[in-house]
Amino acid sequence: MAANARLLLWLLLLSTSSSSLCFGSDLDITCLKTLKQSVVDPNGILESSWNFDTTTNGFICQFIGVECWNPNDSRVLALHLSNLGLEGQFPRGLEYCESLFTLDLSNNRFSGPIPSDITRQVTYLTFLDLSYNSFSGKIPVGICNMDLNVINIQHNQLIGQIPPQFDGLLQLTSLNVADNQLSGLIPSSLSKFPASNFSRNQGLCGPPLEDCGNANKLSLLLDMIDDESIIGAAVGFVVGFVAAFYFPHLFVFSQRLHPYVYRIC
Ligand SMILES: *[C@@H]1O[C@H](CO)[C@@H](O)[C@H](O)[C@H]1NC(C)=O
Ligand SMILES: *[C@@H]1O[C@H](CO)[C@@H](O)[C@H](O)[C@H]1NC(C)=O
Repeated sequence: MAANARLLLWLLLLSTSSSSLCFGSDLDITCLKTLKQSVVDPNGILESSWNFDTTTNGFICQFIGVECWNPNDSRVLALHLSNLGLEGQFPRGLEYCESLFTLDLSNNRFSGPIPSDITRQVTYLTFLDLSYNSFSGKIPVGICNMDLNVINIQHNQLIGQIPPQFDGLLQLTSLNVADNQLSGLIPSSLSKFPASNFSRNQGLCGPPLEDCGNANKLSLLLDMIDDESIIGAAVGFVVGFVAAFYFPHLFVFSQRLHPYVYRIC
């Protein structure tokens, strides 16, 4: 009884302190509305399935491609939007889907950059599949600040290096960057992935692909020095390191507590 009362109190606390996270679905609805408005949908699939007129409990969980944590509680766990003929830029509004763990936009006609603030937009993502689209520009370094288990960006038009910060993605179990225009040295921790998952990029080298030639190395170095994001990242790393040294508890909290906050409620 006492334990139950305590649990209840705790749930109450949780619900008031982070209502949007646990029970509120308004943000998730905003997320899907914004997404729908921001993409081009020539086949009218979202147009017909994503209907915001009826608002029964958990109605968005019936939409094509939307998976909720619980059918009656519209917190979106996953968006499976593969193969719907969608076009336009990387969808907007995802930051309102605060419990999103899986994002699959594969096999569409999305174009333009992968947003550089992708970490802010989809903070808790563990699965990201953008394969078979026309995304262009560089791979944003921010991708390395997420806890991603799966990254698939095969068959796009991405250029530049695979950011060296990929070495920090220890929990990465599946990676595919094949069929892009990437160049430079493959970060060493990625050598465990099969060569075929790096293939058909003209300038990529190093294990599991062939060694970078010496001439190549110099141009790589110049490339790196030229790349201001590397310098920014180096400064960030030092600041982060100092912060982690002096305030280790902050890091333990942000890393460990978030998943539990989600799973509990
Ligand atoms: C969802 O709501 C319906 C009707 O309100 C109820 O019958 C059902 O048990 C609920 N399901 C869950 C998983 O809570
Ligand atoms: C290699 O790529 C395939 C196809 O995208 C993927 O299913 C697989 O998990 C990748 N392998 C590894 C070890 O990452």
